[in-house]
Formats: sequence, C-alpha cells, structure tokens
Amino acid sequence: MQRIAIYPGSFDPVTNGHIDIAERGLKIFDKIIVAILKNPVKNFLFTVDERLEMLELSFQKYPNVEVETFEGLLVNYAARRKSHAILRGMRAVSDFEYEFQLALMNRRLNREVQTVFLMTGFRWIFTSSSIIKEAAQFGGDIADIVPPIVNQKLKEKFGFIS
Ligand code: PNS
Repeated sequence: MQRIAIYPGSFDPVTNGHIDIAERGLKIFDKIIVAILKNPVKNFLFTVDERLEMLELSFQKYPNVEVETFEGLLVNYAARRKSHAILRGMRAVSDFEYEFQLALMNRRLNREVQTVFLMTGFRWIFTSSSIIKEAAQFGGDIADIVPPIVNQKLKEKFGFIS
C-alpha cells in the first residue's frame, strides 16, 4: 500500500521552508499531495491559479509530489485521496498552539487521519509567507528564501519588474 500524505496550506506563496518540509516528508511517505485550500474568506496576495502554478513549477523535479486544490474539510479531502496522514511543518514555539488546535480538531473529525509534524530546517526557522511578502513589497531581497519563480512573481506583483 502506498503511504500518501496530504501537505495542506495556503501557500501564499510557497517558500523554501515549504519545499524543505516536503523533502523531509518524502523520506517517510511514498507520495505527498501538496493541497492548496480554496478559501473564499481569507484575502490572499496571489490567486489560487497563481499559487498552483508556482507550486507546480517549484515541485517540477519531484516525481512523487502532486499539487492540487481542495475545498471544504481537510479530513474529508484526505479520505477522498485515500490518505491517513496530514503533514505540517513546525517552526518555532509560536506555531505550536495553532497547529495543536488544528490537529486535535482534525482528529476529532476523523480518527483515521493522523497529523505528522516535521521540524523545518534551521535555515528556514524564521521564514514565513507573510514576512516574505512584507519584505518583497518594499523591494527587499528574498531571492535565497523562495523558489526562483516566486521571487519573479513577487517582483512583478509589487512592480519591481514588468
Ligand atoms: O497555510 P495555512 O493557512 O496555515 O493552512 C491552513 C489549512 C489550509 C491547513 C487549514 O485552514 C485547513 O485545513 N482548512 C480546511 C478546513 C478544515 O478542515 N479546517 C480544520 C478543521 S476545522
């Protein structure tokens, strides 16, 4: 049986920290499905299609990584994809409370699905999509913490290249 993990998130945009977690996950799972939540409520910088494109390009060289979008409850999506594992990255202690709540709610909703936390690489401990967007907005150099396509798209978005 193939061991499949769902790696869910907003990925607005994908960072090297996300790639690091997926790479670590591939050492445990046969396949990882990177799943972007289609969330109509939250405000995102990039559209779902833009985020999908950036993820697809960033994971191009990983044959065991699939990128998709999902709607509704994560545990229902995991069941549809025949996965028993949700993969989440853990950075500093500040991530813990939210991740703990999410994992416990997901377990309550479906006891067959386990959440697996992986520690991000030390290099990416302080990397987050929000802080990257803030730096990029004011022309900060973030080239070494995001995939090249994301660096380009952020520059286009904030008018630093056309
Ligand atoms: O990258 P994020 O924004 O921290 O990811 C959050 C995400 C997408 C994992 C979470 O919001 C989610 O799974 N949403 C789908 C709805 C759901 O099942 N919520 C958890 C139980 S209420």
